[in-house]
Amino acid sequence: MENFTFYAPTYFAFGQDTENDTGKYVKRFGGHKVLIHYGGGSVIRSGLMDRVKRSLEAEKLPYIELGGVRPNPRSGLVYEGIELCRKENVDFILAVGGGSTIDSAKAIAAGVPYDGDFWDYYQGKPVDEALSIGTVLTISAAGSEGSPDSVITKEEGMFKRGATGEALRPKFTILNPALTQTLPAYQTACGITDIMAHLYERYLTNTTEVEVTDRMIEALLLTMIHEGPRVIADPDNYQARANIMWAGMMAHNNSCGVGRTQDWTSHDVEHELSALYDCAHGAGLAVVMPAVFTYNMNHDVMRFAQAAVRVWGCQMDFAHPENTAREGIEALRKFLISIGMPKNFAELGAREEDIEKLAHTACYGNGGSGVMGGFVPLHQQDVEAIYRLML
Ligand code: NZQ
Ligand code: ZN
Repeated sequence: MENFTFYAPTYFAFGQDTENDTGKYVKRFGGHKVLIHYGGGSVIRSGLMDRVKRSLEAEKLPYIELGGVRPNPRSGLVYEGIELCRKENVDFILAVGGGSTIDSAKAIAAGVPYDGDFWDYYQGKPVDEALSIGTVLTISAAGSEGSPDSVITKEEGMFKRGATGEALRPKFTILNPALTQTLPAYQTACGITDIMAHLYERYLTNTTEVEVTDRMIEALLLTMIHEGPRVIADPDNYQARANIMWAGMMAHNNSCGVGRTQDWTSHDVEHELSALYDCAHGAGLAVVMPAVFTYNMNHDVMRFAQAAVRVWGCQMDFAHPENTAREGIEALRKFLISIGMPKNFAELGAREEDIEKLAHTACYGNGGSGVMGGFVPLHQQDVEAIYRLML
């Protein structure tokens, strides 16, 4: 295990009706004037927004609203939000919705006190200062509710990139699993896929002797394999949704990623797809992960074989561990298809003729160095080969 520091001071309120305490938490964490940020309207249709507003009013907290965040959130609305918050003297950003809304809220929170262009943070500048953020989560997926990260797409060039910094960790997060019961099955499955991807990105490490985090990741993957099909079959299953919701948070607040190198190739390869074709991030990952893992398998066959045996219940082939490794990747692919995820480029709406451009942007776009991947260093021709495996 490598040296690390870990400080993840988000306050979580988990369970039925916890959204009714939102106002109390905004006050506890120092908010005086709130921007409520939300997406395309699901939170209005479900009645959640009314409950959140009532809880702010009960604490006599003034608020303004900015909706319209779309999945794969864009820079245009972030600039608008920054201006609005400055004009209205907002000091607290409350995201009500999914990862896209939370990420847009984080970008606004970072941009308000910053003199330069907020996009600097999405080109590698760490976020050291931001307005306070609180979240009411409505989909288990991105893990942004407990992470110091935000992913935004810049409309000019369609670069989808991440920013990171401890100032972006939400001060509090409301997790009521019942709020996810209104999700379409497809979005639920996209979320499950994303959570599993966050676990695999950490599992694929070059650090040895990381038994504790290996075992934590395996436990969370097993939970997703158990609860995923249950919740797809029965969307109102509160307990299954509860387990998925907490797993989604733990998968990405980095408690399972400390002290080890991490990969993030699948995410970097996927972000080009959701930037260009506007597909759901989780759906993109379902197609990307088996391709990336197949391409990288020979770098550490035993790591893939370990996942196959411990997570997917495969029999270890000691004479030919590569067979076991391959079987584990195939089990993941079949599982993702079984919950309704796409299996190839065509089903995702991606085009073969774009492959060179996708690989070039992934490696060199937005000031990229030409090399990606924390597990295996990959160049443009490798990334092109990975996209071809998805055809
Ligand atoms: O916009 P509304 O109307 O709310 O509808 C959303 C949206 O259409 C809908 N939805 C959410 N909760 C619902 C609901 N519909 C009915 N009932 C509910 N309870 O679901 C759709 C998807 O929402 P979105 O916020 O886009 O989903 P998700 O949480 O998967 O976020 C995806 C974004 O997060 C980024 C992804 O790249 C993508 O842009 N990521 C952010 C990370 C982070 N900040 O740490 C890490 C991740 O790896 C990921 O890259
Ligand atoms: Zn993700």
